[in-house]
Amino acid sequence: MRQSGPPQTFRVKSFGCQMNVYDGERMAELLAGQGLSAAPEGEEADLVVLNTCHIRERAAEKVYSDIGRLQKADGSKPMIAVAGCVAQAEGEEIMARAPAVSMVVGPQAYHRLPQMIAQSVEGRRTTDTDMPADAKFAALPARRKVGPGAFLTVQEGCDKFCTYCVVPYTRGAEISRPFKDLIREAESLVERGAREITLLGQNVNAWRNPGSGDDAFEFDALIRELAKLPDLQRIRYTTSHPMDVTEGLIACHAEVEKLMPYLHLPVQSGSNRVLKAMNRSHTADSYLKLLDRFRAARPDIALSGDFIVGFPGETEAEFEETLQLVDAVGYAQAYSFKYSPRPGTPAAAMDGQIPRDVMDERLQRLQAALNRDQLAFNAASVGKRCEVLVERRGKKPGQWLGKSPWLQSVFFEGEAAIGDLVRVELAAAGPNSIHGRLLETVAA
Ligand code: SAH
Ligand code: SF4
Ligand code: F3S
Repeated sequence: MRQSGPPQTFRVKSFGCQMNVYDGERMAELLAGQGLSAAPEGEEADLVVLNTCHIRERAAEKVYSDIGRLQKADGSKPMIAVAGCVAQAEGEEIMARAPAVSMVVGPQAYHRLPQMIAQSVEGRRTTDTDMPADAKFAALPARRKVGPGAFLTVQEGCDKFCTYCVVPYTRGAEISRPFKDLIREAESLVERGAREITLLGQNVNAWRNPGSGDDAFEFDALIRELAKLPDLQRIRYTTSHPMDVTEGLIACHAEVEKLMPYLHLPVQSGSNRVLKAMNRSHTADSYLKLLDRFRAARPDIALSGDFIVGFPGETEAEFEETLQLVDAVGYAQAYSFKYSPRPGTPAAAMDGQIPRDVMDERLQRLQAALNRDQLAFNAASVGKRCEVLVERRGKKPGQWLGKSPWLQSVFFEGEAAIGDLVRVELAAAGPNSIHGRLLETVAA
């Protein structure tokens, strides 16, 4: 670990959503392009980028403890950059509170990291939280990623302003990347070995081709175009918003074979009063009807969602409506959170903030219901034959791990290699994974 001079090794630590993971990969590629090398696992790096998440209080506080941990007893420390959504939301505060931090860079400005590093070497601390529209992607180097599963951010930002959420403030307004750029990036990912691409966006299905004339070119058309790439085997997308679901997207699930039967469609609550106070655009009923349409198009589709318990004013009866919605859907998998008041959001100032013990108890009950459904979904898969994209080696010798079409983790033993598409029979189910029996290799 060096204290002065240009950094030669780096580490990027990403927290939060998959879009942050994607940004973390692009920052790593950018730094590698500048001649820095990734610090080997377990070794200290000259430059550490903390790519942070601001979504809940605990996630945001983490950055300060991480900064503290990077400083050694002898006073030495790496060059520290704080990136991501905490950087965007609290840049000035970080600079004031953490003198060890050399630079603060927002999610739309990280293409400027090399210049900021150069300034830091000269002893200057810098903050860049500008949000220039689409400048970042044009300034980044080509993709280097070679794993079988790759992320591709197609859309960023959010205009929905749910009353609890910081994303519209940390990520800015909704903006879509141009179609041609996305096809180019997808082609380069596939050339480098990607077999599955997950399209990412804070509201991924709000994507529409920006620019002259073809604004009506919507998300379903992008999926259909990507499906034409011969060596791409699977397409996924996340996170989608109920408001931006189109008939065209639902039809893709019936017609595009490469589009995996999986849908992450956050609902947040089963109570219409709470949904309204959250400024969600749907009711419990309109959400369920939307899911029915997906199921009609693709009967085996696995459903996932996000939930918040303890939103201000949520009564026991309203919470029970969430449990009823969960029962009605039968999720394959879902995420659930305790409401966390975020500075500057309307909900943080609402009356009726819920005590922590009530939130804990509700979260436990909700998670029990979601876990029950997840296990039931996995158990119902036993006996099915499906394709698995091999992502990595398992813990035991000769064991491999990959994903089923329904995004379940499947492990199996036998002859395989990372990136293979194999056919397995699902043999035994646990809550978080499934044991498969290898039948044949479909594509090596
Ligand atoms: N754009 C996506 C979600 C992005 S944030 C959507 O609208 O569906 C991911 C999840 O974090 C949200 O779906 C929500 O469940 C949760 N979340 C956001 N703000 C939160 C807060 N203040 N407290 C608790 N959970 C929150
Ligand atoms: Fe946040 Fe709502 Fe936007 Fe999702 S849609 S990112 S929850 S404001
Ligand atoms: Fe977190 Fe920012 Fe993603 S707040 S969830 S890293 S958009």
